[in-house]
Amino acid sequence: MAEIIWGLATSHVPSIGAAMDDGRTQDPYWKPLFDGYQPARDWMAAHVPDVAVIVYNDHANAFDLDIVPTFAIGVDEWYPVADEGFGRRPVPDVRGAPELSLHLVEKLVDDGFDLTVCQRMEVDHGLTVPLSIFCPEPGDAWPCAVVPLVVNVIQYPQPTAARCFALGKALGRAIRSFDQDITVAVFGTGGMSHQLAGERAGFINPRFDHMFLKAIESDPESLTRLSREEYVREAGSEGIELIMWLIMRGALNERITHVHSTYHVPASNTAAALALFDNRPAAPG
Ligand code: DHB
Ligand code: FE
Repeated sequence: MAEIIWGLATSHVPSIGAAMDDGRTQDPYWKPLFDGYQPARDWMAAHVPDVAVIVYNDHANAFDLDIVPTFAIGVDEWYPVADEGFGRRPVPDVRGAPELSLHLVEKLVDDGFDLTVCQRMEVDHGLTVPLSIFCPEPGDAWPCAVVPLVVNVIQYPQPTAARCFALGKALGRAIRSFDQDITVAVFGTGGMSHQLAGERAGFINPRFDHMFLKAIESDPESLTRLSREEYVREAGSEGIELIMWLIMRGALNERITHVHSTYHVPASNTAAALALFDNRPAAPG
């Protein structure tokens, strides 16, 4: 059966990807952020999964604002990297895991989550930047296959935090019921506090971010009691991306082992964080 071996929460700021693509990770602005990633990167390189289920949001690249699915899943063999207006990132296209995707669609629909099914889809920085944070030098191919799970966090009404946590639990059950002996990692992406436009552009809330970082590990239920308005008020209009961390967390066991976390302000306009959790019951190291 499939086993979920770890969960990663990480911001997906596009300029983190650009800093890697342009060889600027050792610049004074970026070095502290990338230094903070290193222990997690070393650990993940020693625990490469067969498949990563990446929970992320599209930023009007795969879907324009005419059609915004609340939850969508890719079932393709390959996902091309989107050109977001500056040319496509020089990273490999993303190999899918269609058998696992189709299994997840069936189980999640049976469990009451009627996902939009994408036979074809380009993937933007919401997915490729977390992949680069996991694997900075993929060469010609990413080290694992990917199931993309897309969440609407950009157009009102976004799904509630409680609904996201429930989807994560159903996702965990669905992954564990896949009858192939594969290892799976689950990524929850986006956040932490940031607001890109409007009167509060540049808004950062370290107090909320630190509360969230602690609670996502030990008391995720408490985060499901916050309304979408509270997420926007406390974390900024784009900080509501944090609800996607709850999908990752819901898929993991109740008890998890903290491997590494880091918090850095600013990465572009965002409070960037990473939190890595070992999901194996005995946490063998
Ligand atoms: C930034 C952050 C995001 O989450 C995003 O999707 C785009 C830009 C930023 O801080 O620049
Ligand atoms: Fe974003």
